[in-house]
Amino acid sequence: MHCDDAVFQNYYAHFRGMDRKTIIIIVFAGSFLLMQLIPRKHSNPEVNPVEEFSPDRSVTELALLQSACFDCHSNETVYPWYSYVQPIALWLDHHVQEGREELNFSTWHTLPMDKQAHKLEECSEMVESKEMPLSSFTWTHPEARLSAAERQQIVDWFNRLRSEY
Ligand code: HEC
Repeated sequence: MHCDDAVFQNYYAHFRGMDRKTIIIIVFAGSFLLMQLIPRKHSNPEVNPVEEFSPDRSVTELALLQSACFDCHSNETVYPWYSYVQPIALWLDHHVQEGREELNFSTWHTLPMDKQAHKLEECSEMVESKEMPLSSFTWTHPEARLSAAERQQIVDWFNRLRSEY
């Protein structure tokens, strides 16, 4: 009898343990599924070519800008598959919104000249100090990582454009 009790207790403890694990898994899976109902705010407002940042004769620098900055600072964001999964979508949409508010190369020419000049100065500083592109971005976008030479090239370019104002 005593022995049976122990076996039962043991079995019961095991069962309860399993049960709790199952409940935790169900709660997590359920919350994850429910989270998918949170609306995503992915958007790419139409780009008006007249407003776009389009310095002449800067093909290589523009390509660097496109791969390192445009996902957050233009209306041409490329949304990867995981950006459709919540809660990642919330986090990315917030970044893109904040990024565009600070600086949007797609609406560059809607800024007054003095503002444009100031933004170029900030761009140069941000790239030189390695604050931009954000490291959370380069971590998932290896093509956006700037080599030291590319960084210098883009900084010189921003400075040159700035001096033309
Ligand atoms: C992953 C998104 C992301 C990428 C990629 C990115 N930025 Fe940003 N950027 C932001 C966000 C968010 C802010 C606003 C908050 C902050 O300053 O951290 C910002 C702010 C800025 C500012 C304004 C800083 C200030 O002084 O207020 C400049 C200038 C800038 N970024 C330039 C760049 C340049 C140039 C690149 C490419 C080399 C780049 N960013 C790439 C998200 C990004």
